[in-house]
Amino acid sequence: KAMAGKTPERSFIMVKPDGVQRGLVGEIVKRFEQRGYTLRAMKMMHASKPHLEEHYKDLSSKGFFKDLVAYMNSGPVVAMVWEGKDAVKTGRKMLGETNPLASAPGTIRGDFCIEVGRNICHGSDSVESANREISLWFKPEEIIAWDPCIKDWIQ
Ligand code: PPS
Repeated sequence: KAMAGKTPERSFIMVKPDGVQRGLVGEIVKRFEQRGYTLRAMKMMHASKPHLEEHYKDLSSKGFFKDLVAYMNSGPVVAMVWEGKDAVKTGRKMLGETNPLASAPGTIRGDFCIEVGRNICHGSDSVESANREISLWFKPEEIIAWDPCIKDWIQ
């Protein structure tokens, strides 16, 4: 098996409050499932401002930081861990560009939004960020080691 002996890559993917309000949770989950990624963890939560400030701490000097935290705190988000080959880079490709207007049709942002400050989903930008974000949002026991190869629903 190609993956044998190697821990597959994981990315932290999050549906932002506008994505939840617009009923796009299923659509976003569907695209990762269909692409072949494995869902390891998922939870809905209304994240606090301190938690979001920690998540976005690398951006604390940006002019949009306060607005970004307020937007992310405006309603619940759905936080997820998706696992599989090249999950970080391919996950970002599936999301599209940060600015939705630069996102190709066929990407999540390219299909569903037009505003950078309302871009419906987040994806880790590197394996290091993914590891940091996953441990910020999930306890180790919330990451589920199920085997997607077992298909006992067939029999
Ligand atoms: S930067 O400037 O290159 O560091 O920014 P970038 O990596 O493109 O984006 C980092 C996150 O900030 C969000 N962002 C914004 N939010 C609100 N308003 C404006 N103008 C804005 N510009 C960037 C952007 O969506 C990224 O958040 P995530 O959650 O990673 O998508």
